[in-house]
Amino acid sequence: MNIDSRIELHTGNTMPVIGLGTWQIRGNVRNAVTVAIEAGYRMFDTSGDYGSQVGIGEALRETAIPRSTIYIVSKVEENEDAYDATTRNLDELGLDYVDLMLIHRPPKDGEIMEELWRDLIRAWQEGRIRDIGVSNFSEDQIRTIIERTGVKPVVNQIEWSPFGWSKRMADFCASNNIVIQSYSPLTRAQRLYDTYLNQIATKYGKSPSQILIRWNMQHGWVPLPKSDNPLHIKENIDVFDFELNPIDMAALDSLDEKFSAIAERPIYQLHREKGERRRYYELIKSVQKYSGFSDAESKDALDSAVATIAAHLEEEERLEFANQLPAELKEIAIAIHPSKETMKQDLFEQFTEIQEVDKSRAKKQLLCAWKALKGALSSGEIDHIRTRLPARAAKMLS
Ligand SMILES: NC(=O)c1ccc[n+]([C@@H]2O[C@H](COP(=O)([O-])OP(=O)(O)OC[C@H]3O[C@@H](n4cnc5c(N)ncnc54)[C@H](OP(=O)(O)O)[C@@H]3O)[C@@H](O)[C@H]2O)c1
Repeated sequence: MNIDSRIELHTGNTMPVIGLGTWQIRGNVRNAVTVAIEAGYRMFDTSGDYGSQVGIGEALRETAIPRSTIYIVSKVEENEDAYDATTRNLDELGLDYVDLMLIHRPPKDGEIMEELWRDLIRAWQEGRIRDIGVSNFSEDQIRTIIERTGVKPVVNQIEWSPFGWSKRMADFCASNNIVIQSYSPLTRAQRLYDTYLNQIATKYGKSPSQILIRWNMQHGWVPLPKSDNPLHIKENIDVFDFELNPIDMAALDSLDEKFSAIAERPIYQLHREKGERRRYYELIKSVQKYSGFSDAESKDALDSAVATIAAHLEEEERLEFANQLPAELKEIAIAIHPSKETMKQDLFEQFTEIQEVDKSRAKKQLLCAWKALKGALSSGEIDHIRTRLPARAAKMLS
């Protein structure tokens, strides 16, 4: 992925992988857009109600960058005539087409929603809009407009960040070839101080904003960070020289707390996954803190330690042990079906077998994983596990 990368839509058209949000630009819109074009942005998100369309149009007319390489997203409101509003938006922008027009919010009434969509389809068929999509729509609302008109939106633009996203919506959009455009991807600066996010940012030598943007892009979602500060505008697109590793991606996924920076919560359905994944990744981080291992090695050590310990416990004890662990580790503990032989086997040797690493490394891994696990278990459970383990193992883990 590089600054010129584009994402393919189901209509065959393509869209840049990042765009500049222009809602509530306080200063001069034309200047902000000009700085952004120079920094490499090729997509601009606006709306009939943002007050930024005139400034965007001015900047586009001034730049030497061809219009065909720039992607403009605008929106019609739920209470207007979508066909007429399209004309009005184009006039304000001073353009003869936009690349994407969205319905800003779903109206409550299904009939009005269908009418809006049909009016957009009409403007699209006339060529004044290259693609059409929706914003703040739920799965059901998207299904409804597709069923009623046979035309699928290319995009659902929704509030989206590691602190507030929905696996269910992500899966629904992916399986329907609908691209998620992420609005308020920087949480409107409300979660940029998060300790966890900052730890990841420090590790990559990047800013929290850059991590949030990169997380979106690596998932195939299209972030629209807003800024009218030239330094921030440049910083937010300087995200093509690093890659978040799978563990950090998963750790960011786990930050979900259904956070919304917008006072009026979006209407799309959210899927609660509690803080389970976060607990898991906190344990991995804690193995890493004790050991200095890589992320992947810390995860392996933790998973193997749980598997090894579970293999030494009777079924009931194993369940008790599993119930205190985050979901991923619980699955590992429950999936084990120990034989009499494995229960008698030396804990450390068994761990070495699973890990296939040399003994001194294995010992360090097991001890560090145990140290981390202790934080997740009640003291009663720790004592209990120790009494059930072979003597040498119990001593090793004390
Ligand atoms: N479809 C919808 O219903 C909908 C709703 C909301 C938003 N949107 C779109 O999505 C865009 C982005 O969302 P948003 O404006 O709500 O919020 P956002 O992009 O999450 O956050 C913008 C805030 O972050 C600050 N910021 C930007 N870059 C930063 C950096 N590198 N370091 C520190 N702070 C930084 C900005 O301040 P500075 O300007 O001072 O940098 C601003 O206060 C909007 O502009 C709009 O285009 C769509």
